[in-house]
Amino acid sequence: MDKLKERVKIKNIWTKNRIAVPPMVCFHWSDDSGCVTDKNLQHYRDMAAGGAGLIIAEATAVTKRGRLHETQLGLWEDKQTEGWKRLADAVHQYDVPFFVQLHHAGVSGIEKNADCPSDYSFRDSNGELRARGCEMSPERVREVIDDFVQAARRAKQAGLDGIELHGCHSYLICQFFNRNINHREDIYGQRREKFALDILEGIRESCGEGFVAGIRLGAFEPALEDGIEHALSLAGKADFLDISYGFGGESISLRPEGYPFSEAIYGAQEIKKRLPDMPVFGVDGITDGEMAEKAILQAGVDMIDVGRGFLVNPNFGNDVLEGRSCGKCLHCRPACKWSPFLNDGTVVCPGRNLFLRNQKQ
Ligand SMILES: Cc1cc2nc3c(=O)[nH]c(=O)nc-3n(C[C@H](O)[C@H](O)[C@H](O)COP(=O)(O)O)c2cc1C
Repeated sequence: MDKLKERVKIKNIWTKNRIAVPPMVCFHWSDDSGCVTDKNLQHYRDMAAGGAGLIIAEATAVTKRGRLHETQLGLWEDKQTEGWKRLADAVHQYDVPFFVQLHHAGVSGIEKNADCPSDYSFRDSNGELRARGCEMSPERVREVIDDFVQAARRAKQAGLDGIELHGCHSYLICQFFNRNINHREDIYGQRREKFALDILEGIRESCGEGFVAGIRLGAFEPALEDGIEHALSLAGKADFLDISYGFGGESISLRPEGYPFSEAIYGAQEIKKRLPDMPVFGVDGITDGEMAEKAILQAGVDMIDVGRGFLVNPNFGNDVLEGRSCGKCLHCRPACKWSPFLNDGTVVCPGRNLFLRNQKQ
């Protein structure tokens, strides 16, 4: 695990190793206030103690109007900052850098007439209308850019080391990037990456050069060529690229036949080839240390995200780095039991239960 143990420099901070905990929402642990609770605190403390090299906290709403769920954590007002300070202090106790993912759901959220770059009917896989997106006016675009900037300012005030913009998985920034959704005729349609770039510039001005600001970007938005183009346009503006999937239903994820890792890791590999100096993260389906080490070596990415592995076993990092069994995500069907929309906050994770049972024997 020599490669995994290495530290990585992202701007002015050093990760503890090459394993990042990616953002993973845990709904029902907070309430409509969006404030951090003791349950959130314990969750992040456990993963920091468990050998994560970097933690990126879950998708956190920058405005109440952009929420994905009524109990989503928020950074839309100053009174939420205190809870984030507690989280940052808990994670830093273990010498682990701590970022938060800043999020606006756009047409994928709980608003029925939601913010969207252009008018758009968002349908589920059965073709049923889920929500209607309404084209944002230029004033509304500026307001939302400022919501992101203010949320980043609060994160910095709380002592976090940086932020990640949620720029993929069907949410607002991703909607701006995707040419199947963004049909604007103004500058935000002519240059679809401008929305993300303006947010990054605003954060830079407000938080200073020392504060890390990266983005989770869809490699397939809608196609890999677009993802690569978006990544290139962010060079010199974002401090890292965490590569995942694009807008569900409006993207084409592809990897060559026989490629041993996920499509998202393939996308990260292709982006890293073009941006060798940019820290690039890969994700999806990494279940143990050997696989993580191989993915880093083969894809050439700087960091590998392990999400569900840490949900099964919050000590995942230490266990793989020290050669112990780390448990395994059982890929529950039809969806992960941690899935924010399928549980009421009391998660029963079969992979975690199996891991705990095996440990006792
Ligand atoms: C319960 C759960 C919540 C998630 N929440 C987020 C989120 O807040 N933001 C995000 O970008 N991705 C989110 N994801 C996706 C993960 O960050 C990650 O990309 C995905 O789980 C694949 O990685 P893995 O195979 O290591 O779990 C979530 C995934 C799960 C299972």
